[in-house]
Amino acid sequence: MAEVVIELEGVRKVYNSGPTRVEALRGVDLRVRRGEFLMIVGPSGSGKSTLLHIMGALDTPTSGRVKVAGREISNLSDRELARIRNRYVGFVFQEFNLIETLTVLENVMFPMALADGEDEERAKRLLLKVGLSEEHFDKFPNQLSGGERQRVAIARALANDPEVILADEPTGQLDTKNSHRIMEVFKSLNEDGRTIVMVTHDLSLTRWADRVVVLRDGKIVEEGSPDEVTL
Ligand SMILES: Nc1ncnc2c1ncn2[C@@H]1O[C@H](COP(=O)(O)OP(=O)(O)OP(=O)(O)O)[C@@H](O)[C@H]1O
Ligand SMILES: [Mg+2]
Repeated sequence: MAEVVIELEGVRKVYNSGPTRVEALRGVDLRVRRGEFLMIVGPSGSGKSTLLHIMGALDTPTSGRVKVAGREISNLSDRELARIRNRYVGFVFQEFNLIETLTVLENVMFPMALADGEDEERAKRLLLKVGLSEEHFDKFPNQLSGGERQRVAIARALANDPEVILADEPTGQLDTKNSHRIMEVFKSLNEDGRTIVMVTHDLSLTRWADRVVVLRDGKIVEEGSPDEVTL
């Protein structure tokens, strides 16, 4: 059995905004194994993004335990959490979240500056690896198509050689053809041994995963291989 890289136990998340109280996660137990391609699916509002953010130390649970790379992170300081985020996880978002004033190459080097230092050659290799050709390296994000932007975002997520890539609806703003191409990039990274956790509400994408977890109302209601899960 492969090593567990992220482990959640009894994770609950309650949002208190004014008088309303939302129980976004209601007791989630989940283990992500090294090298797997895990997909989290479920209807809008079921808690998928909340879960992914907690897995990547972008947010903390109201109660329960979270371990990343064998280390309990539920009670770390903000500074230590930032370090975990930098080293162990790479995030990819639906809206790409690139820095518009930096070039493609600078966007990929940006997280490196916060860790081991900028490495231009490595940044170029990562961009080529995700299928972005050299002619785009000095362009700004607004000069790229959606599919190209998402390739930059994936290269940036890989900048510090993270243990796990966490992707929240990474194909949500792409047409079918570009979605397929981005899924091929994730699949190829996974085949290189990279662990991938991807959130989607597009059920046609589950076939790309090794394992699918179905979330409903803040709870895991089903789990299995893409064929096993009935949805
Ligand atoms: N910052 C917040 N403050 C208050 N409530 C929130 C906050 N973030 C999320 N929620 C609520 O928590 C629940 C789960 O939200 P979450 O964003 O995790 O769902 P999701 O499954 O990612 O949905 P979608 O598919 O629409 O992205 C929802 O009811 C949402 O309104
Ligand atoms: Mg979401």
